[in-house]
Parts: sequence; C-alpha cells; structure tokens
Amino acid sequence: MMDLQAILDDIHDSLSSRRGEGRVADYIPQLAHVDPKKFGMAVVTVDGAVHLVGDAQEPFSIQSISKVFTLTLALGKHGEAIWKRVGREPSGSAFNSIVQLEYEGGIPRNPFINAGAIAITDLVLAGHTPKEAIGEIVRFMRYLADEDDIIVDQDVARSEQATGFRNFALANFLRSFGKLDHAAELVLGVYFHQCALALSCRQLARAGLFLANSGINPLTGHRVVSHLRARRINALMLTCGHYDGSGDFAYRVGLPGKSGVGGGILAVAPGKASVAVWSPGLNDNGNSLLGSLALEMLAARTGWSIFGA
Ligand code: DON
Repeated sequence: MMDLQAILDDIHDSLSSRRGEGRVADYIPQLAHVDPKKFGMAVVTVDGAVHLVGDAQEPFSIQSISKVFTLTLALGKHGEAIWKRVGREPSGSAFNSIVQLEYEGGIPRNPFINAGAIAITDLVLAGHTPKEAIGEIVRFMRYLADEDDIIVDQDVARSEQATGFRNFALANFLRSFGKLDHAAELVLGVYFHQCALALSCRQLARAGLFLANSGINPLTGHRVVSHLRARRINALMLTCGHYDGSGDFAYRVGLPGKSGVGGGILAVAPGKASVAVWSPGLNDNGNSLLGSLALEMLAARTGWSIFGA
C-alpha cells in the first residue's frame, strides 16, 4: 500500500527551503497581500481518504480554477450548444490575451482563457440576475465539496472589479461581435465573484473529486455529470488548463490540471484521486511555481499519469 501521507510530508519538506519563490499576482491588488510562503496540499482519494499537509485548511482565492466549475454548470444548462460560443483548442497565448479574439470573430479559443471563461459565465447568467447566478455558483461549490462554509471573498471581488480593465475590454470586445448576451458589467460582476471564491486545498480537492470518479461524487454518491462529460472536462483541463504552459504541465505532471493566479492548482488523477495544491508564487505563465513542482513530485512518487501506468 502506498503511504500517501508520507509522500505529501516529503514533498512539503523538500520544498520548504524554496517557499516564497515565484511572483505573487499583484494585478489584483488584494492578492498581493497574501503571504508568499504559504504552502498547502490535499489529496482526496476516490474512496474518500483525505491527506493534508501544510496550509491545506486555509482558504485561498481560487481564481481561474473556478472556470472548471462554471464550465460544468454551463454544460449542465446548455449542453453541447456552448461550443458555438467557445472553442476547445489551446490558445498558445497568455490567459488574458485579446489578440486572437479579433482574428477569430469573438469565439475564444477555450473556456479557460479569460475571454472564454467570460463567455461561459455569460451562459451561466442566462435567465438569472447576477446575484442569483453568483448564488448558484456558490451553492454548486458547497454541493460538490459537501461543505456549507464556502464563501466568496468580497474584498478580492471588489479589488478585481476596481482594476479588471482588461477583462472589461475582453467582455466588451465579445459583445461587439454579438457573442455576449448580457452587458459586460453584469457578466463581469458574476465572473469576479466566481474568481474570488475562497476554498482551502481540502475543500477544493473535495469539490473536484467527481472528475476523478467518472462524474460521480464519491463523498455523496451524487452523479454530477455523465462519465463522458467528466472525461471531456478532464481533456480540456489537460490541453488548456495551464494556458500556454499546458504542454509543459502535461509533460511534467501528466494529469489534467487547472491553475489560478491565487497560486492554486486542481489536478485530477482519474480513478485515483483529486489533488489541490496552493503556493502563491507564480511562474512566467501565471501558474503556481512550487505548486507545479509539488504535483510533478506527487505524480512521480505515486506513478499517477494519464499517459501510462
Ligand atoms: O480574470 C483574471 O485575470 C483573474 N480573475 C483570474 C486569472 C487566473 O486565475 C489565471 N490563472 N492562472
């Protein structure tokens, strides 16, 4: 039997001298206040065993990791019709890039770059007020993690609302192509709140567990999505979840993953476990530097990979 706790303890110890490496995101001013030395990791296996190390119980801003969950909600509401609004290809450019949007007629490359995620949030907003849509997203996270104390960090949401000029540009650009059904202000009101969701590694790993278990949350027995849909969401995480660093992440870790500029990464080992790691310092692609390293070490030690046993 593999001793997952010992593996996590080892990873934690061997990275301890490197804590604080990378650059904490500061374009959202509130994120710049986070202690760069934080490090937490949680592994929740499909049979429900939980392994934690470091700051795994401390909530952090999940930022773009929320895009996995809004994609899941949008697919639930609109099914495959969402692919008329957003593509399924890696972008090869930064998460907040605007350049491809013009060439490609307002259809963002994938649901994880900011433009694509804004288009997805627009679809989640259909038939709702922004307040209702935010409520739906928060309830969905609580349902998935099977925990009621998940909240939105309002300071982070306000901070991005006040400074997210590039996202306003992206949303208005989408709207100019007729590819956004609601006003940019309304969509971004929801988007900034979903990004400001605060979850601990433990809660995040629990919330992502349905993706590791063929669409069924093993904690509750509820089917969240079909087997096929879980596979497809995992495929998108693998190919697009780390933006223009997705190839490198697939090469080094070999698991579907989604990063956020808060320094979190959710990784899925199908049939095995859901993993969340948090270390605020980012690499040049805006993905957690030590978080990626920690996952690389975990994958090497466990043998977990979607590319072979
Ligand atoms: O829209 C933004 O820029 C942020 N709320 C989220 C970006 C993000 O997390 C990119 N991921 N690494």
